[in-house]
Amino acid sequence: MFRNRSFSSLTFQLTIVHTLIISFLVGLSSYFIYLTACNLVDQLPPGEGEGGVFFRERLAAVLWVVIPVVIAIGGFFHYYFSKKITMPLRQLGDSLEKLKAGKYEEEVRVTAFNEVGILSGHINELRERLKRNDEGRSKMLSDMAHDLRTPLSNISGYFEAMRDGVIKGDADLYASLHKESQRLIDMVEEVQEMSRWNEQTSEILQQKKEEDLKALLEEAGDLFRLKFADKQIPFDVTAEPYRTVIHKEGIQKAVINLLQNAYQYYEGTASVRLSGKAGSSYYEIILKTPGPALTDEDRQSMFDRFYRADSSRARSSGGTGLGLAIVKNIIEDQHYGKVEVTSEDKVHTFRIQLPDEKDGKVHGNKGGLS
Ligand SMILES: Nc1ncnc2c1ncn2[C@@H]1O[C@H](COP(=O)(O)OP(=O)(O)O)[C@@H](O)[C@H]1O
Ligand SMILES: [Mg+2]
Repeated sequence: MFRNRSFSSLTFQLTIVHTLIISFLVGLSSYFIYLTACNLVDQLPPGEGEGGVFFRERLAAVLWVVIPVVIAIGGFFHYYFSKKITMPLRQLGDSLEKLKAGKYEEEVRVTAFNEVGILSGHINELRERLKRNDEGRSKMLSDMAHDLRTPLSNISGYFEAMRDGVIKGDADLYASLHKESQRLIDMVEEVQEMSRWNEQTSEILQQKKEEDLKALLEEAGDLFRLKFADKQIPFDVTAEPYRTVIHKEGIQKAVINLLQNAYQYYEGTASVRLSGKAGSSYYEIILKTPGPALTDEDRQSMFDRFYRADSSRARSSGGTGLGLAIVKNIIEDQHYGKVEVTSEDKVHTFRIQLPDEKDGKVHGNKGGLS
């Protein structure tokens, strides 16, 4: 749309409109100057006003030359400055065309300190986000393909061997094949869940309401109480009351994913402790969970998609490596909060900070608390 710049361009249209206005105003004022001057000449005492007709003719002739020249000069200056002023808009148009073609690499470079400058700032943010989404999507597809391939090849390999009579199916083999296929189903369901929390949709925004976090934590704790008791794992929940605007199902899902890991990877004798602390502008959900030792690299990467600290152990426990990535999406992308893990010996502390969104606004840093 910015390629066809000739007559439909903003500069041209502005120049035409302003030249018409200049013409009208110059014409009008010249006409009144002419009338006034002629009037004055007519009022001169007889004898002195002899040159009246000559004066009128000369004045009219001069005005007929001066008016078009003034209009032409005005039009030229107007065209020149309009072009300069609208230049950033054209640069913006070019950048948007590149963006449309999927070229996210180049930053939108517009040197304007006015509204266009602000607009180009917003477009740069949009470009960054599109770039991140695009990269995230292709990384996720390749991770997913990689992670689905191994169990599918296993299943297919066993079926092939059975078909060729190399091995005979028995209850154990069927159970293991069933387990593997169940893991695939879980993974696909988690991928679906993750794509749901990946982007902030209007549906998610509308479902955000003021909720009591104490009640939410206690409800989530109740879901796991029996499971922990069955394995004789000491478990307690202590939550301070706090009301803020959250997506209830989302926060529940995040806490459940953490509790599920606490249950799945529990090791030792210490208690699993879920607590909620009310801060001045945020609420902190803390889960202390004894588990296998984690390296610094594990702690840095465990919120990434498909990351498992110890693949073989996680695989045997049916892990997909998506649980914590979903937690991160829900907390950081949907609630502008922060989630992190620290460890002391073999007790890991998962800490979620949820900013207060009570009045619909996020207090403090929008990109996450620090
Ligand atoms: N409470 C925990 N204690 C020790 N390791 C954990 C804990 N929670 C998560 N992890 C490690 O982080 C990895 C990623 O967790 P997650 O994203 O939930 O995937 P999954 O549980 O499906 O493997 C796990 O495979 C595990 O190695
Ligand atoms: Mg998990």
